[in-house]
Order: sequence, then structure tokens, then C-alpha cells
Amino acid sequence: LSSTEIDISAIGTGQAIKTSWRKQPVFVRNLTAAEIAEANSVPLSDLRDAQTLAERTKPGRENWLITLGVCTHLGCVPLGAAEGENRGDYGGYFCPCHGSHYDTAARIRKGPAPTNLVVPPYEFTSDTVVTIG
Ligand code: FES
Repeated sequence: LSSTEIDISAIGTGQAIKTSWRKQPVFVRNLTAAEIAEANSVPLSDLRDAQTLAERTKPGRENWLITLGVCTHLGCVPLGAAEGENRGDYGGYFCPCHGSHYDTAARIRKGPAPTNLVVPPYEFTSDTVVTIG
């Protein structure tokens, strides 16, 4: 099976889970309004891998940020999906292997990673179920 169904109904605003797809870690985050505003306030010229939050989410569901949990530097699993983990200087995810900081849209902001955390192919099957792959 190449696709994975994820029940997102229990992920409250501000929470995230770690799941997997094709043996790779996947992060699913329910962004707060403040995190969405923060992501939308960043000028694209400040970004190494320029993408808007809207380009990284689905229309009308901008709060659901779904990415691979694989640092684009050398493939470590960043911190930040679990409660209490270090989310780095930009409030998203932090890769402790060599210090890559990702923002609230999981875009690379500081450190050696060349690109944003990858958004896998996915669709909302319903309001509470996402199918990845
Ligand atoms: Fe993440 Fe190097 S693997 S910073």
C-alpha cells in the first residue's frame, strides 16, 4: 500500500502528531491563528526556499501543515512535533543534528538545510481524514 489514511480529529489547535508514510516520518500540525499569521508575515525575500503557507497547505485548510519529518540537510528527524520539544528559533521544527531551524510553515530559516520540509502528496478524504500518497 502506498497511501496512508490519518485520522486528524484528535489533533487540537496548536498540537501536532508524528505518523509515517512509506516508512518516512510525517508531521501533521494544526496551526494556531498566531502561527498562521506569523508564517504569512514573512517576506518571501527572507526565505531560502521561497514558498507561501498557502502553497504548502490546501485551500480553506491553511491550519493543517503536513510535511515529511525529514530534515532536508542529511535526513535527521527534526524535533517539534511532540509536546515540549524544542521548536527552534522560528517556532516550527528544529533539527538538532546540525542546527536547522524551520518556521511555522516548516520552511528553512537558519542552519544548513537547503530546502523546506517536504509536503507530501495528500488529500482531505473528509473533514477529519487525510490520505497521504
Ligand atoms: Fe538536519 Fe543536518 S540533518 S541539520
